[in-house]
Amino acid sequence: MTNRICEVLGIQYPIIQGPMSWLTNAELVAAVSNAGGLGILGPNAGQTELTTDPIETAERMRREIKKVRELTDKPFGVTLIGSNGEFSSVFTLKILDVVVEEKVPVVLINSFGKDGHYGVEQGLLEPCKKHGIKMIVRSLQPSIADARKCEEQGASVYVATGFDEGGTMPGVAIGTFSIVPMIRDAIKMPLAVAGGICDARTVRAAFALGAEAVFCGTVFLAVKESPCAQNVKELIVKSTAEDLSFFRAPMDYYRSLPTAICPQLVENDLNLPAEEAKQANGKVMGGVGGMRLGMLLGDLEHGYVSVGNGVSLIHEVRSVKEVVDELMVDYK
Ligand SMILES: Cc1cc2nc3c(=O)[nH]c(=O)nc-3n(C[C@H](O)[C@H](O)[C@H](O)COP(=O)(O)O)c2cc1C
Repeated sequence: MTNRICEVLGIQYPIIQGPMSWLTNAELVAAVSNAGGLGILGPNAGQTELTTDPIETAERMRREIKKVRELTDKPFGVTLIGSNGEFSSVFTLKILDVVVEEKVPVVLINSFGKDGHYGVEQGLLEPCKKHGIKMIVRSLQPSIADARKCEEQGASVYVATGFDEGGTMPGVAIGTFSIVPMIRDAIKMPLAVAGGICDARTVRAAFALGAEAVFCGTVFLAVKESPCAQNVKELIVKSTAEDLSFFRAPMDYYRSLPTAICPQLVENDLNLPAEEAKQANGKVMGGVGGMRLGMLLGDLEHGYVSVGNGVSLIHEVRSVKEVVDELMVDYK
């Protein structure tokens, strides 16, 4: 089966692996693309240590892009983190230069999606258009206004993200089941859906609601090719959504499987005013560094384990191909 999203991205099956900070690398991305989907290199792809140098950040991404090319000749993508305004960060612009130089066919752009900042910022839009790079846009705050702006700008795919997702969650608590038809009715452009999609049933539901592709993160954590720590993969396999702690954190909300810092995160959420709770929890979590600690290094004392509500549907550690084959069973 093919559809508009498969055609525009040059992929066999309508499944996209979402970027996950620290938790993607060339092996994972190439495995997804080789299985017929679209793999995407996320922030800090293939890394174990942080760098604060924008040039080194971009060169690390170049090395990871080259590794992907050694493992697959299929299309793949790279993430460009949007800003909360009109101006892209120096890190993002350096990575965009590498994307252009290395002729990466697809980028995933995070739009901001609120306070009047909708769609793709100019600093990213114009170079992508000029070089024919396909733009998948996933807003951190999905909204009708944001989706319409992306359509008007000529983005290739819009991703509607429901509140079931893993990672940094939107401030507006609209579940996947409700946001997909809402955005579907607002735009005509190709639409993918993220949040809670971890098995063939949830893929069917997404398509029934009007999506043309699924965009998955959590299900690609507990796979053999993922750089996620082995103890975290095992924790994911034995957990359900009932095990998740839920709390305010920058930018808005977060979930974590139980780690030693979770009681403090929940307590701050319950006892502090909203903004104070976010700031306090940002410190306890150590920013995105906490994801590296908890999920990449498997330190369940000091880090956190961010997954979506679909965690209940993951029962074993499988290969990427087994996961894609199961989720795409109706599209073969
Ligand atoms: C551990 C983790 C880290 C993530 N990091 C990022 C990120 O750096 N940038 C981004 O755009 N999305 C990030 N996401 C969101 C995913 O790309 C994807 O949209 C989301 O996981 C989809 O929901 P699901 O987890 O229910 O499949 C992350 C998700 C997870 C689980």
